[in-house]
Amino acid sequence: MENFSSLALKIENGQIYLLDQQLLPHKEEWINCTKCEDMIFAIKHLKVRGAPLIGIAAAFLLEKLKEQGVSEKELEESAKKLRQSRPTAVNLMNAIDRVMKDGISAYDLAQEDIDLCLRMGKHGAELIEDGDNIVTHCNTGGLATVGRGTALGVIQTAWEQGKKLHVYVDETRPLLQGGRLTTWELQKLGIPYTLICDNMAATLMKEGKVQKVFVGADRIALNGDFANKIGTYGLSILCQYHNVPFYTVAPFTTIDKECLKGEDIEIEQRDPKEVQGVNGSFGQIQWSPDSNVYNPAFDVSPAKNLTGIVFDFGVLSKQQLLNDEIKSFL
Ligand code: MRU
Repeated sequence: MENFSSLALKIENGQIYLLDQQLLPHKEEWINCTKCEDMIFAIKHLKVRGAPLIGIAAAFLLEKLKEQGVSEKELEESAKKLRQSRPTAVNLMNAIDRVMKDGISAYDLAQEDIDLCLRMGKHGAELIEDGDNIVTHCNTGGLATVGRGTALGVIQTAWEQGKKLHVYVDETRPLLQGGRLTTWELQKLGIPYTLICDNMAATLMKEGKVQKVFVGADRIALNGDFANKIGTYGLSILCQYHNVPFYTVAPFTTIDKECLKGEDIEIEQRDPKEVQGVNGSFGQIQWSPDSNVYNPAFDVSPAKNLTGIVFDFGVLSKQQLLNDEIKSFL
């Protein structure tokens, strides 16, 4: 396998390395994934995460297995297990299908993702005005893709165009992808930001301190409903109430052609321990007793709460989404 490198995934001397996102921001350690089980473990534990990135990481693992000359049966079984490692992010299934059924290489998917991110960045940046304060949720940057990201890629592009902007970063309980990862990326990019707890966006909006919200997506139904990190639905309602433009940003690989509406999206349920405490490079803390826990990893926002979706092929407005126009771009 040829060498390749992005912020959180690299191929070196035929080996696949993932930046261990569970340990960020305090430790930057790379994990070597030599077999399918390593990749599945990394995906399940969010050592590698973000819908586009897990798809491409799984594709590289399949590429490695092919290069090792494993049997067709073993390849099929590995693809099946990888597919099941996280159920909501459809980019994972799409990337595996494109490798297995269409014979596309992981390198082509990676290059495509870089290009898609650049295109989303260009379309989305046009929506950002000088002086905007933007709320974002979870992590949607170079740690979640192999390119510059989706929502965060839009913000980065607008910043590079010289627009003065400031980002409010939702910390994103329970796994703190905002507090640990988006802060880490924005710091590296030199983009001004303020970290907030998830329950603070409402007050900021009431005070008129938020001009726009940009988030990512893990699966988009044909009617424009979309799943994203838990907490996104709440933000979408806050935006409606306070009349703040609300956009999701995603490549075409996040559209599920089989899924007609949000209710059909399977939502991943995760370990109660993630809500009962925290776990990171600092160790493990549990603050609650062994309580009952509800821990869905994602929620679904209806298309009617969106101002629009920023795709690589352009921005679709709420009206276009409600008129079923996604289908004409597939
Ligand atoms: O559970 P995660 O950290 O993988 O969730 C990630 C998100 O919800 C992102 O918004 C989504 O994958 C799109 S990122 C380009």
